[in-house]
Amino acid sequence: MIDQSVYGPWAVVAGGSEGVGAAFADQLADAGINLVLIARKPGPLHETAARARAKGVEVRTLELDLLDPAALASVRAVTDGLEVGLLIFNAGANSYGHEFVTADLDRVQGVLDLNITAQLALTHHFGALMKERRRGGIMLVGSLSGYLGQAQISVYSAAKAFSRVFAEGLWLELRPYDVHVLELVLGVTRTPAMERAGLRMDLPGLRVAEPDDVAREGLRHLADGPVLVLVAGGTAETAERRSGFPRADLVLGAHEASKRLLPAPS
Ligand SMILES: NC(=O)c1ccc[n+]([C@@H]2O[C@H](COP(=O)([O-])OP(=O)(O)OC[C@H]3O[C@@H](n4cnc5c(N)ncnc54)[C@H](OP(=O)(O)O)[C@@H]3O)[C@@H](O)[C@H]2O)c1
Repeated sequence: MIDQSVYGPWAVVAGGSEGVGAAFADQLADAGINLVLIARKPGPLHETAARARAKGVEVRTLELDLLDPAALASVRAVTDGLEVGLLIFNAGANSYGHEFVTADLDRVQGVLDLNITAQLALTHHFGALMKERRRGGIMLVGSLSGYLGQAQISVYSAAKAFSRVFAEGLWLELRPYDVHVLELVLGVTRTPAMERAGLRMDLPGLRVAEPDDVAREGLRHLADGPVLVLVAGGTAETAERRSGFPRADLVLGAHEASKRLLPAPS
């Protein structure tokens, strides 16, 4: 059970409407933690909020694009005055796949703005309050993609590597104040975003994690930072393999394997 006295009474889930974000919301509500849920699409956001309210917790929703330069001000408008014991930054699946040199730089910037700028802004704000209070948790949702470079998503992979290394430094800085920092590394996970992207999750031998299992494992290990590579979906073994040398063999091997995941040409 998630300890309310450490991570309550409120949690903010940035990207808290669908997939893993919705599973976090459901499980935090089961633990009696009130929620601020942030996402762009109102439908899934309000459905997730309604499920959590039915479990007896208070829920505030914020329909917001975290790419909005005023995002932090909007988040503060609904959270100032609340005691936020847990921040989960979950939003961040790749929004633009393209070879880099011919890519639209504005869209590339969007990947960085969500995965780095928005994540830093929320972590800076809530992390400072947690440090003052000397308790709390910050979970950044990362990816196996952050363990090696990948064609078409080179910037996304690099942003996820940034997040992982950033989490390690932040963990060092906040551990004297009993604020737990965890980078939760996911592999292929059955989320609506992946289904919309047409990712082929039925391939023989491919291990796909389920959002409920990912959320359960992550929440159980909030205090076991700085980095948790999930057992769910076989992610831990892949991360270990991808961390080795020589890099060329690993990068080329993963590149071949990832081609199988892409939607079949129509
Ligand atoms: N699914 C996988 O296979 C996989 C693998 C490795 C890592 N991950 C990581 O897991 C996390 C969740 O991924 P996901 O597949 O569930 O997809 P996602 O597109 O990141 O969606 C997750 C949540 O974030 C919200 N969101 C996305 N972009 C947003 C924005 N600009 N502003 C506000 N909210 C936003 C979504 O709702 P709205 O769309 O309504 O805004 C949804 O509630 C990401 O950090 C991703 O990198 C996923």
